[in-house]
Amino acid sequence: MIEMKDITKKIGDKIILKNISFNISSGQFVTVLGPNGAGKSTLFKILALLMKPTSGTLKINGVTVNESGIALRAKLGVISHNSFLYDSLSARDNLLFYAKMYGLKNAERAVKEVIQQVGLELSYYQPVKTFSRGMLQRLAIARCLLTNPEIVLLDEPYTGLDQQAIEILNKVLKTLKTEKRTVLMITHNFEEGVTLSDRIFILNRGQLVFDEPNTYVLDTLKEIYLKKVGVFS
Ligand SMILES: Nc1ncnc2c1ncn2[C@@H]1O[C@H](COP(=O)(O)OP(=O)(O)O)[C@@H](O)[C@H]1O
Ligand SMILES: [Mg+2]
Repeated sequence: MIEMKDITKKIGDKIILKNISFNISSGQFVTVLGPNGAGKSTLFKILALLMKPTSGTLKINGVTVNESGIALRAKLGVISHNSFLYDSLSARDNLLFYAKMYGLKNAERAVKEVIQQVGLELSYYQPVKTFSRGMLQRLAIARCLLTNPEIVLLDEPYTGLDQQAIEILNKVLKTLKTEKRTVLMITHNFEEGVTLSDRIFILNRGQLVFDEPNTYVLDTLKEIYLKKVGVFS
């Protein structure tokens, strides 16, 4: 459960997010659409507890996020442009590091499982610095899955992925949906992005201009999107 109320983010004089409010119940899959600069990544960082809002409140599973937000982090799985991986470590050692940080039992086995899930078992002992963008993103997905997070947040996860990685990501997202995890995914990719989605947000110029259940066919949604953000945005 995510409860966001009147979240505003200012950087200097600039208002990046303005009075954003929504509740996302457990098991819901939300897709966030919006043009470049709309504030999507800023919203993502606030939800991922990587950035503090200027005002407003955020509760995760009923717990208000404040300085003690660290404990909540274990409940969150995060996939973004920053893979949070260490270059010189192997795929295995990167994930073992996280597994130990989160105090996972049977760390070695858990690591093996998620690495298989994303099809990287042949690169198990390979340093991450030799990985392609697609491989890195697959490992980032594995890292996210390692802690069995209740809530998964993704910021443009399709960017730069090859076809194989896209299919792995789609499969993982499907599994998350089947397992009734809460998912919030930011994407530019209408086709991939809304297939699994229960609910659509459109963010424009720092404001949540659309928040509806996903009952639309793709073409209707595209029309709505263009109306909401302006055709030439
Ligand atoms: N650290 C920052 N300092 C100043 N402006 C920023 C900063 N981060 C983001 N912005 C501005 O906030 C707006 C929203 O950015 P962002 O959240 O990255 O948008 P999106 O992910 O939707 O493209 C943009 O205009 C961007 O230039
Ligand atoms: Mg962004």
